[in-house]
Order: sequence, then structure tokens, then C-alpha cells
Amino acid sequence: MNELNHIAIIMDGNGRWAKKRRLPRTMGHKKGVEKVREIAIYANKLGIRCLTLYAFSTENWKRPEKEVSYIMSLPKLFFESYLKELMENNIKITMIGSLNRIPEEAKKIFRDAIRKTSKNTGMILNFALNYGGQDEIVKAAKDYARDYKEGKARSLTKESFKKYLYTKDLPEVDLMIRTSNEQRISNFLLYQLAYSEFIFTDTYWPDFTPDDLDKCIEEYRKRTRRFGGLNEEKNN
Ligand code: FPP
Repeated sequence: MNELNHIAIIMDGNGRWAKKRRLPRTMGHKKGVEKVREIAIYANKLGIRCLTLYAFSTENWKRPEKEVSYIMSLPKLFFESYLKELMENNIKITMIGSLNRIPEEAKKIFRDAIRKTSKNTGMILNFALNYGGQDEIVKAAKDYARDYKEGKARSLTKESFKKYLYTKDLPEVDLMIRTSNEQRISNFLLYQLAYSEFIFTDTYWPDFTPDDLDKCIEEYRKRTRRFGGLNEEKNN
């Protein structure tokens, strides 16, 4: 059976969920935050080691200012509402992406949550915030070049390159789920998804339930992962 350590999710469809109910798009994001709590608590109970959630991409700055500022208020809403529960569940918060453009208040809230949960030993709940896969790879290349120049790095291999990625301390991504039936990866974990299994579901993120996660996991377990090789039956 396939091991499952790390699930990554593109939480898409908040806007459409709201539109269907004639609500402002922001209400879709608010409901999306409640789902983050529900799915994180559940995934931790399942024994998943790491859950990475795409909360805001480097391209999402192109959205209307009002929507961007609403999304930037979500860390406050999320951690004020749920940090206590996350602590009780031994969940550790981390993030990937760049905090540089993130408003001061959200930055502080994230840093506090990361610090307060740093000793927790349960699931890692990793937020991709102001994250872009292409930016990450370019940053890694620049950091390597700097280390090379300073004599701190020499030959570059797939293994040594990984140390320059935001995900250096995280397990390999086994399964990537995208909700709301868009079939693309939108600059998410471009390097890390090389051999991950992909599942695209019709469900909008605010409607995604623990039962839907179970179904994705069940499908993932049935997949034959070959990592470019041959599976056992075909091998002989
Ligand atoms: C995509 O739906 C969703 C987002 C860009 C934002 C997702 C963020 C959260 C669910 C909350 C994150 C939580 C924290 C704590 C930071 P969309 O707006 O693109 O939906 P649409 O495609 O239907 O318009």
C-alpha cells in the first residue's frame, strides 16, 4: 500500500461557492477558513505527517485590493479562533513563501503561531502564503550561486538543491488535491510535485468534507506509483 506522509491542497472554488449562494466572494473565503480547521484537525487524526495548503499565491496580488486585504485578514481570524484547538491537537504551524509583502499584522500573527506551536509533534500544518513555485526555484538558484561564490557549496545535485527550497524540512509530497474541478497546478510546488499523485475533485473548497478527504485517500491508495520505473508485475 502507498505510504502517505504529505498531502498538498489547492483550496479552489471559494468565490464560486459564494456566487452560487449570491454572497460576496469574501464569504466564500470565510467559509474556506472554517474548512481549513476541519480538514487540518481530521488529517492530524488520520496520522498524516504534513498538510500543505495553498492560501495565497504570488499571482493573487492581481485580485481587487478589497479581496486581497480581506484574505490578508484571514490569518487573524483563523489563529484567534483556532490556535488553542490546534495546540490541543499537537499541530505544528509552518509556512512557505515570502512574508515580505504580507501586511504587518498578518505577519506577526503567523510568526506567533509558528513560535507557539514549534515544539508540537503532531501534524505539520504548512501554509503556502505569498508562494509561487517559479519564484521558489529562482530564489533557490540565487541562494546556491551565493553559497558557491562564498565557497559554502560545490557540486549541485538533486539532493543538495532540495536544501535551498522552502520545503527542505518537509517530507516528499505524496498527494496533491485540487478542489473545484480546475485541472492545473497554478505555480504550486512545481519542483516538489514531480512524482506526486494528483486528484481533482468537483467539490468547491467550502463544501469539502472529511469524507471527501477519505475518498481522495482511498483513491490514492489504489494508485500504482512507479516513480518512472516499472511496477512489480510488469517487472518479471
Ligand atoms: C481560491 O478560491 C482561494 C483563495 C485564493 C484563498 C484561499 C484561502 C483560504 C481558504 C484561507 C486561508 C487561511 C489562512 C489561515 C491564511 P477562489 O477565490 O479562486 O475561488 P474561485 O475560483 O471560485 O473564484
